Amino acid sequence: MTESTSLASVLEDIARADSETALQDLRLKWVGKKGWITQQMKELGALSPEDRRVRGAELNEWRQAVLEALAEKEAVMRDEAERRTLASESLDLTLPGRRPAVGLLHPLTRMRRRIEDVLVRLGFSLAYGPQIESEWYNFEALNMPVDHPARDMQDSFFVDVPGLVLRTHTSPVQIRAMQQHHGRLPVKVIAPGMTYRRDDDATHVPMFQQVEGLVVDTHISLADLTGTLTAMVRELLGPEVGTRFRPSYFPFTEPSVEMDVTCAVCQGSGCRVCKDTGWVEILGSGIVHPVVLKNGGYDPERVSGFAFGMGIERVAMRIFGLDDLRLLYQNDLRYLERFQSGGGLDIQ
Ligand code: PHE
Repeated sequence: MTESTSLASVLEDIARADSETALQDLRLKWVGKKGWITQQMKELGALSPEDRRVRGAELNEWRQAVLEALAEKEAVMRDEAERRTLASESLDLTLPGRRPAVGLLHPLTRMRRRIEDVLVRLGFSLAYGPQIESEWYNFEALNMPVDHPARDMQDSFFVDVPGLVLRTHTSPVQIRAMQQHHGRLPVKVIAPGMTYRRDDDATHVPMFQQVEGLVVDTHISLADLTGTLTAMVRELLGPEVGTRFRPSYFPFTEPSVEMDVTCAVCQGSGCRVCKDTGWVEILGSGIVHPVVLKNGGYDPERVSGFAFGMGIERVAMRIFGLDDLRLLYQNDLRYLERFQSGGGLDIQ
């Protein structure tokens, strides 16, 4: 070849080329239009016929060898590129599949549905009312006249529109349900839903959920109340739970009773959670006040009823063994996922 290059070293350069551009450069350098071999061939004409024959055969041989080496190297590079693509696109069908993120119901939603399920089996049907309620339904109709001190029991969120309030309990649905029954008997409804009060600590959040219950019929007594609520609580918390009723006060029931259950932490022997009493309150209830029956369109001389209101979060705290209610409302999936099962919450 040139004085300083042999065919062998050119072929080696080609074999060692590490990129397509390097290979292309070698092609131009030796067999391109201005490549060295091509140039040499153009100069053959200046030689004597004898020299031309020898030199021509030699150049042809070189050209052939270089073209072959280039084609071979190109094929190798193509194969390598293909192998790389295949490797990067490889699909291993034996790998385990990626589990899609599955949505879950909030533990409090499942708790509410569980309570509804128990009460529906006890013969109650569902009733609903608005969360932005009129002061009349939330207070007056429930025997809490304007300026009645009992309104202070429930620190309220008022709305800019006069006469409206974020309902402080589900009890206004008692009135709405009675009105919708138009005097028919029995009224036997539960009203689950969001309620709002200006409370905020480990065991109170400003937005919480209650389940209201109302039974109106002839001859309804405290025995019906205690029997129904005891059955409900045993179904929810287990047959071994202890229960008791204490006298209390609500403007819309007379007499009023609060229901306690044995403390889940100490089983009734007394601890910090139950303030050494062995009992924790679970709901408020009582015999429906005559004024409330009248406001619902019923005659207190002819019918009677009982009502109760239970905090869903309270039941959830007990069943899940929680000491800070606020965590349930912070939407941290790592926390909420811990309550996927258990507590008899197999209802979806
Ligand atoms: N509404 C009461 C409360 O929120 C509970 C209750 C309901 C009490 C029905 C008696 C009857 O505290």
